Amino acid sequence: MTVDTKLATADRELKDRHRKMWALGDYAGMARDFLLPLGERLVDGAGVAAGDRVLDVGAGTGNAAIAAARRGARVVASDLTPELFADGRARAAEHGVELEWVQADAEALPFADGEFDVVMSCIGAMFAPHHDATARELVRVCRPGGTIAMLNWTPEGVIGELFGTMRPYLPAPPEGASPPPLWGGEDHVRARFGDAVTDLSMSRDVLPVALFDQPVDYRDYFKQRYGPTIVAYRNVAGEPERADQLDADLTALFERANLAADGEPARYVFEYLVLAGRRAG
Ligand SMILES: C[S@@+](CC[C@H](N)C(=O)[O-])C[C@H]1O[C@@H](n2cnc3c(N)ncnc32)[C@H](O)[C@@H]1O
Repeated sequence: MTVDTKLATADRELKDRHRKMWALGDYAGMARDFLLPLGERLVDGAGVAAGDRVLDVGAGTGNAAIAAARRGARVVASDLTPELFADGRARAAEHGVELEWVQADAEALPFADGEFDVVMSCIGAMFAPHHDATARELVRVCRPGGTIAMLNWTPEGVIGELFGTMRPYLPAPPEGASPPPLWGGEDHVRARFGDAVTDLSMSRDVLPVALFDQPVDYRDYFKQRYGPTIVAYRNVAGEPERADQLDADLTALFERANLAADGEPARYVFEYLVLAGRRAG
């Protein structure tokens, strides 16, 4: 086997593991419970207009994609995990819009150069492990002068910290992989896009979240529903002490991040970076 073939096989296996991870739990339910405002926020930031041809990368159940279609855009919703499309199709039907749903890896998009007016990703492409390859692909499929927009969890926010907390418990990432929340840092974004994206604007904002009374309820919610958290627990399933420590670490995170006064129901703000720029050329 040549080195190239080995790399290609390893990447296919990695993406297959990622796909299975995102299909675990109940991501569709989580999106419906509290993530939908992010799709609207990204579509606002990207300035999506009626008639635009729009690609959503890592679209999942179509959070941003459906928001764009509701504004009259012609939308392709792409994702590594087609298991999520059923809920997306149901939600699109609820809103009376039609989209195209395509299985696609953000690092190797099956679209032509310059095919889209807007290429966007809402907490999606940030999870592809090779950030330079992802940035190149987002730029490649956008027409010159078109818009590239992302909404990414920041490393310092609650979800960024969730990934930091889970990292020691997750299977070791392959060589060359970067942690997803890096995409939530302004310098990281500038370095990934370089001269390929001009007029780059970036701002941080927060998603308010108030679903349960107790911080520990948030830990259990992620434990039962969120693919990456489920994988972290599965990875230490044969080691009860490490599983208990993961429980304790996640409880501590949600206790630390809780903004409510004593005796009040827990509440949070999840910080994200939203960015938009124009493809150079
Ligand atoms: C947190 S979900 C976000 C889904 C949706 N955009 C939203 O706002 O609810 C992350 C998504 O990224 C997708 N994803 C992860 N790695 C990917 C890759 N390499 N290429 C494309 N999508 C990927 C997952 O399948 C999942 O649907």
